[in-house]
Amino acid sequence: MTAETRWAVETHALTKRFGDFTAVDNVDLQVHKGEIFGFLGANGAGKTTTIRILCGLLRATSGQASVSGVNIMRHPEKVKPLLGYMSQKFSLYDDLRVIDNMIFFGGVYGLKWKPLKQRIDHVSGEIGLHHLLNRQVRGLPTGWKQRIALACAILHDPAIVFLDEPTGGVDPVSRRQFWDLIYGVADTGKTVFVTTHYMDEAEYCHRVAIMYQGRIVSCDTPHTIKAQSGDPTLEDAFIRLVSDRIRQEV
Ligand SMILES: Nc1ncnc2c1ncn2[C@@H]1O[C@H](COP(=O)(O)OP(=O)(O)OP(=O)(O)O)[C@@H](O)[C@H]1O
Ligand SMILES: [Mg+2]
Repeated sequence: MTAETRWAVETHALTKRFGDFTAVDNVDLQVHKGEIFGFLGANGAGKTTTIRILCGLLRATSGQASVSGVNIMRHPEKVKPLLGYMSQKFSLYDDLRVIDNMIFFGGVYGLKWKPLKQRIDHVSGEIGLHHLLNRQVRGLPTGWKQRIALACAILHDPAIVFLDEPTGGVDPVSRRQFWDLIYGVADTGKTVFVTTHYMDEAEYCHRVAIMYQGRIVSCDTPHTIKAQSGDPTLEDAFIRLVSDRIRQEV
């Protein structure tokens, strides 16, 4: 896996064990640059664990993984500036203003003051946050907090952004608006790797991978997955694929 790779994410037999429990089991993934890639699976399927490995936050037990052509096993520190990460329980500082959160996260990503100010202005425009910059985060609706967390994740202009259940617990209108932002981020050439339990959102992805108990059971475009299973919606296809796995086990 070289820096010239055309893949934003590439894994081979990626495995993570916690004691004798295997959370990520021989996962092979190839995500195209510029793609919106959906990562689907029931609670405990291993999505967050996979993302944390890809973000260099957790060491894999075995296998290979590269992000933007950088081998994570060998160079976990090199990969961090290339990616943005919005964690499942995203952590903004409630007591701080929106702009102070952005200054803090920009600093964490190593941005110097002048480019940081320019990026805050630029990203605030992209995400529609200018009117909120001086507001304290506490008290803002969840939908806005999620937008702020997205802004913080892309401040340093990463090539790829990992969004772990970014729309969990927000209303349908805010979810739709958030997906408009995701498309905007992808339009700027970034790869978006996103997990969701909402199958209507999964339909918006260019391709999706369905994970069950640490393994990838299907990876393709929503259209192809539906065509192969003969189901009218991705939700039906997802339920069929996972149910088939459960049946095979009993
Ligand atoms: N540090 C840990 N130690 C032991 N087990 C863990 C650890 N982290 C995760 N697990 C287990 O690994 C499995 C996968 O967890 P993970 O959080 O990756 O799932 P997920 O697909 O993100 O689920 P959800 O949809 O609920 O967010 C779960 O059974 C979880 O309990
Ligand atoms: Mg998770």
